[in-house]
Amino acid sequence: MNTTFLPAWLYTDPVIVQRERQRYAPRLWHPLTASTALAEGQVQAFELLGVPILLTRSQGALRCLINRCPHRGVALQQPSQQPQTCRRLVCPYHGWTYDLAGQLLAAAREGDFVGSFERSDWPLMPLQCRELGGLIWVAIGPDPLPLEQQLDLVLQEAEALFAWPRELLLRQSHVLNCNWKIAHDNTLDDYHVAIAHPTTLHREQGPVRLYRHALSDHASLLATPYGEVGEFLTFGLAPWTHLLLWPDGRLALIQFPPIDPGHCYMEVCLLGDGALKPQAQVWMEEVQTFLAEDRRLVEAAQVGYASGLVPGPPHRLEQRILQQQSLYCRLMDLETFGSEPTTSVLMTAEHPGVATAPSPH
Ligand code: FES
Ligand SMILES: [Fe+2]
Repeated sequence: MNTTFLPAWLYTDPVIVQRERQRYAPRLWHPLTASTALAEGQVQAFELLGVPILLTRSQGALRCLINRCPHRGVALQQPSQQPQTCRRLVCPYHGWTYDLAGQLLAAAREGDFVGSFERSDWPLMPLQCRELGGLIWVAIGPDPLPLEQQLDLVLQEAEALFAWPRELLLRQSHVLNCNWKIAHDNTLDDYHVAIAHPTTLHREQGPVRLYRHALSDHASLLATPYGEVGEFLTFGLAPWTHLLLWPDGRLALIQFPPIDPGHCYMEVCLLGDGALKPQAQVWMEEVQTFLAEDRRLVEAAQVGYASGLVPGPPHRLEQRILQQQSLYCRLMDLETFGSEPTTSVLMTAEHPGVATAPSPH
């Protein structure tokens, strides 16, 4: 495991953002929504790291399709908060029509194509998707880690609780003025909670002396006492995901997908029993209150990192950051790195093209 924090240039360099999109994100699974949010015969469009995606459920099968008509590239549906019920996907440009499995059923004026035309040659392209823990997970690369490996610690520590059926109660998204790794590091940081969140998250997590940590190759856990017998479980997961599990079955998913070197989204999904819907707004306000406290800190840290800071020594309560950063280095093939960007750090035999222009500071 790493014993120092990642160097600051990894938080500001556009070449690194490109490499994360090519190499880090495609190796991992991304939770998009709750399984219960997509009923039989429904379709919902999403965008994941610039990839337009359709989730469909038909004849009992969940599918993930690229939301791009193979004729001239137009999206079949626009991303929306709610799924649509439909039997067919009709392209708004020239009307090519697909079933929910992505097979082309009809094209307008089908006898008049310039060359030969076979419907079966033009399906929507599929991506891998899975359902686990009541969530729908999508992989945008062809060779992701096994999902059970990515979630190893969640399954070891809380398999039964994680599997509870849940509804998606509320989803909110904001833009943060920082690199996604600053926000991810911060949410893995158990050193700051008592100082930065004295009346919010610290009250939920309780005294630092009662913290219980667990680490695996792919995830980390902070468990804190909750009520008489339970624990409040805070899992840190790759790529930029935090899964908060309460002993009553509530689950909050916090993710920081990147936009560019200095910006990321902060997406919050609250899931739980459908009976909790009336309280979901209050719950979201509680979560957003401590995230607003974090926002000031992460945006200030980005300014510090961008000024060329050499980060100080990690504290024992920052070990979850080191764990995720070790995994990040492994997946990015950054086994060794220095305090300055160098071509040798980025250049590997397999992917020589990535290292064309590390930016100076
Ligand atoms: S782009 Fe879809 S039918 Fe032409
Ligand atoms: Fe925080």
